[in-house]
Amino acid sequence: MLHKIDIPSGVDSRLVPDAIAKSIELAKQRIETFQDRWDRPQIEQFVAADYSHVFQALDWTLETQMTIGRRFVEWGCGFAIVSACAAHLGLDVIGIESEDVLLVQGQTTVKDWGVPVELIHGNFLPPGAESLADDPMLPSLGHKIENAYESLGLDLDDFAMVYSYPWPGEDDFHEAVFDRYAARGALLMMFCGPNDIRLYRKS
Ligand SMILES: C[S@@+](CC[C@H](N)C(=O)[O-])C[C@H]1O[C@@H](n2cnc3c(N)ncnc32)[C@H](O)[C@@H]1O
Repeated sequence: MLHKIDIPSGVDSRLVPDAIAKSIELAKQRIETFQDRWDRPQIEQFVAADYSHVFQALDWTLETQMTIGRRFVEWGCGFAIVSACAAHLGLDVIGIESEDVLLVQGQTTVKDWGVPVELIHGNFLPPGAESLADDPMLPSLGHKIENAYESLGLDLDDFAMVYSYPWPGEDDFHEAVFDRYAARGALLMMFCGPNDIRLYRKS
């Protein structure tokens, strides 16, 4: 069962260090350049989150909430900006991404930021998790690629915290997967749109 933790609205006034703000801005400029060039259908296009707000929410979470460890995974890391933020905040970070072209962008982010993040090509859904979806068209489904956890030699319940940015309509599915496969006490943070960052603990 998932227990919702309310993130105070004032979290967006927390300090974002200048160096982080600048790195986020540069990465967002790379996203814009990338989007101008990429010709894949809109549903598969990469859409930027509010990374400063996610940084602030992560910082607040680590300061105020108990965690069961330091291992953090970003489901579908894209440009890996949240992975880089989490590593900057001292977490042991793995980013999983299905699209090779985005993984290359993630590697550039990690190099630019100089943070230790392990990026892996693969499926972030644990084996069998697709059966929890009630809509077979969800964009997280149907990736015919290696399973990331098998490549890593880890399971989802080895992670203390998961971050995801679900496509619209996928949030319930991500919650169901986390609820089924994560460790008790683990945290799930989801960016569901501007001013809509959700935090849950599995009990
Ligand atoms: C909305 S984007 C979010 C990107 C990134 N987390 C962020 O906050 O900027 C969703 C990402 O998940 C990736 N993705 C979708 N389904 C996946 C799956 N089953 N396994 C791995 N990556 C997946 C997509 O390629 C895309 O990069």
